[in-house]
Amino acid sequence: MPESEQDVVSLREGNTPLYELPQSSRRTGVPRLYAKHQGMNPTGSFKDTGMTVASTFARQAGYRWVACASTGNTSASMAAYAARGGMRSVVLVPEGKISWSKLSQALDYGALTCQLRTDFDGCLRLLQELVRRAPVYQLNSINPFRLEGQKTLAFELLEQLDWQPPDHIIVPGGNLGNSSAIGKALLEMREIELISRLPKLSVIQAEGANALVRTLREAGGKQLVQVQAETRATAIRIGNPASWKKAVKVIQATGGACEQVSEVEIAQAKAEIGAEGIGCEPASAVTLAGLKKFVRSGFVKPDESVVLVLTGNLLKDPDFTMEFHRGDLFSSTEHKSGSDLLSPLRHPPVVLDATLEAVIQTLERAEQSDPLHPNA
Ligand code: F0G
Repeated sequence: MPESEQDVVSLREGNTPLYELPQSSRRTGVPRLYAKHQGMNPTGSFKDTGMTVASTFARQAGYRWVACASTGNTSASMAAYAARGGMRSVVLVPEGKISWSKLSQALDYGALTCQLRTDFDGCLRLLQELVRRAPVYQLNSINPFRLEGQKTLAFELLEQLDWQPPDHIIVPGGNLGNSSAIGKALLEMREIELISRLPKLSVIQAEGANALVRTLREAGGKQLVQVQAETRATAIRIGNPASWKKAVKVIQATGGACEQVSEVEIAQAKAEIGAEGIGCEPASAVTLAGLKKFVRSGFVKPDESVVLVLTGNLLKDPDFTMEFHRGDLFSSTEHKSGSDLLSPLRHPPVVLDATLEAVIQTLERAEQSDPLHPNA
């Protein structure tokens, strides 16, 4: 590990805020509901806390090139840390299946960006071959240094809660590195008696990318059930998660659960987190959608405390947000019929003549309906 602070490749990541979610608290009937917002990290996602550790190691080991396969956030983060550390980076991303904001970050930070005509799972397969053939250091979430860095989320969280463990921590699941890292941190904290009991760590996936859900339900967690992943929450559009064994272990060790949520439920939860003045990207919103299911099933009880891990910033996927508010998100998809309940949450932009009268009329109409604050 580095000898002095100058040897650390850092963008001042970590120390992210822990927010209360008053509206979602009321709606779910869980008064002690918090969001640990990893999207407030320097490149806008939870990847940064792992990337500082792994890129520091890569530079110390003398690598000129680092590489990853990514659904977007890893590539943005890796490209930034490589640039800070004076290394070059190559990213493999599925063509057309990552958001423009993430792609544009990788470009601006100077990565060699390869858009491959495949999905994330195909990119990851190719990366494994690339690291065997070329002198590049792979910075995917199977990299052990990344997982060690991502543990800091749990340490920070416990410190923010005065070392009183919450009853539940709920995290999105894609390649399953993050849940594994958080679980490892919890078990280690329990081991050295920094905490007296374990929070239940639960993982939520999109219905269309539910490999872990099916692995637990259909194979008792013993062998991976791969899926052909499809979801608008592109960050977690993964069918063959690399760290599934570790995730099964930490879910079982902490008494957590694994649940799946629909595309409409994700869109609704994302809008509700936005309406708290916080916002997140679609993959992060699965946590709130999953919590609602857990409350309905009785797995989460109203007197228990719950922390949702928001993994990515609202600005990470503006296309999703714009399509949602314009009402286009589910047009010509199988989810269209179920999406009517989203209308009250939509705030499409209005185009007006540039007159005071037009703006005042619009204001008056808006005053008559405020679905998010019905009693205001
Ligand atoms: N949330 C966001 C915003 C993500 O970007 C990812 C993964 C996850 C959740 C899932 O975390 O893979 O540790 O289970 N993004 C990776 C990437 C795959 O390439 O950016 P996980």
